[in-house]
Amino acid sequence: MSGPSQRRISVLGSTGSVGCSTLDLVERHPERFRVVALAAGSNAALLADQAIRTRAEFAAVADHASWPALKMALSGTGIEAAAGADAVDEAARRDADWTMAAIVGAAGLAPTLTAVRQGRVVALANKEALVCAGALFAAEARDACATILPVDSEHNAIFQVFETERRSAVEKIILTASGGPFRTLSSAVMSTKTPKEAIAHPNWSMGLKISIDSATMMNKGLELIEAHHLFAMPEDRIDILVHPQSVVHSLVAYVDGSVLAQLGSPDMRTPIAYALAWPDRMMAPTPRLDLAALAQLTFEAPDPIRFPSLRLARDALRAGGSAPVVLNAANEEAVTAFADHRIGFTEIASVVEAVLETLPSTGVHDLEAVAAADRAARVTATGLIDRGLIGNRRAARVASAGAAD
Ligand SMILES: NC(=O)c1ccc[n+]([C@@H]2O[C@H](COP(=O)([O-])OP(=O)(O)OC[C@H]3O[C@@H](n4cnc5c(N)ncnc54)[C@H](OP(=O)(O)O)[C@@H]3O)[C@@H](O)[C@H]2O)c1
Repeated sequence: MSGPSQRRISVLGSTGSVGCSTLDLVERHPERFRVVALAAGSNAALLADQAIRTRAEFAAVADHASWPALKMALSGTGIEAAAGADAVDEAARRDADWTMAAIVGAAGLAPTLTAVRQGRVVALANKEALVCAGALFAAEARDACATILPVDSEHNAIFQVFETERRSAVEKIILTASGGPFRTLSSAVMSTKTPKEAIAHPNWSMGLKISIDSATMMNKGLELIEAHHLFAMPEDRIDILVHPQSVVHSLVAYVDGSVLAQLGSPDMRTPIAYALAWPDRMMAPTPRLDLAALAQLTFEAPDPIRFPSLRLARDALRAGGSAPVVLNAANEEAVTAFADHRIGFTEIASVVEAVLETLPSTGVHDLEAVAAADRAARVTATGLIDRGLIGNRRAARVASAGAAD
């Protein structure tokens, strides 16, 4: 039973980094929250443990192979459970007031849209959903009267300082970027880096995919597209600024020269707590900012030569249509291939670039078109990776550049 003032919440992607941080906050405030549904990909053991701990009503696992383990772990608990994509969708449909969308990658698009269609408050961590279907997403949210709360620390920061009622006074948005673990390295050195080195983020503790995206800076490219959709801001009014300390989470510049920023320690529980309590605020056990101890905050321009993903994402946003879908899907395949040691670190961006060159942008007016563009990009990317064509492309480029010199 939920209390009269308890917020009924569901967490999609509960076993991941954002999902675990969300439940950490929820479990610290049992009087404020009632857990309705939890959903995960395949980690049945952790999902069952979370469902029992939080007394969730329903637990869904996407992977059918994980169903026996989930069923056994929850037997006799009274918690309903199910497996498969439909079960994850049901978790998104269950009667909650607030849903955390924290599934990683384009896999999160359908269940996140299902939550949006229920007209709820949707706390959005799954940036790939917005990258793939930003315009459709906004239309669905409008039609269903859903509220989207950005959870990404940068977008949450902007949300906190963006004066919506004075939108015409906003000159630009400035997204900060840590620069990742390879911020100061040359491309040649980066090309030798292993997955283990790429996921060792200097400031943030995050899931594997976003950690690798941070190292290539594709994460900032995806966030650029995310910011464009969330704040209806044109691409040329969104800047990226490297800020290695990850303390200033992003800034909004106004026409009178004022620049408003949100600051905090690099701990996702601050933006998640903001979204959980919105429109109020709640206590979060995050390290308090000690600016005197930090002494220095530094900023620098990003380098699109060493980090070509930034340029690719900007170009994809400008091209519109299927280009952001293709960018995202090719990146997901390339990141998986790098994590599996099938391609090198700098080849991630080469795969994305090659796929974007192979598949010119087409219009995407519905979810079927998004799914088709996503599939085509994945087939093209895996084809290039499996046939070892990425190294060859790069060698050919270097040779032709040499011939032209
Ligand atoms: N981590 C951060 O600090 C952070 C910050 C800002 C934004 N984000 C964004 O938040 C999202 C989640 O990131 P993360 O770092 O938390 O990722 P993560 O640690 O890899 O967790 C991903 C979650 O998604 C679940 N999942 C994967 N495929 C699924 C499917 N088909 N159906 C249902 N659930 C599925 C996973 O379940 P299993 O555990 O069972 O595989 C896990 O619960 C990403 O879009 C990321 O860009 C993350």
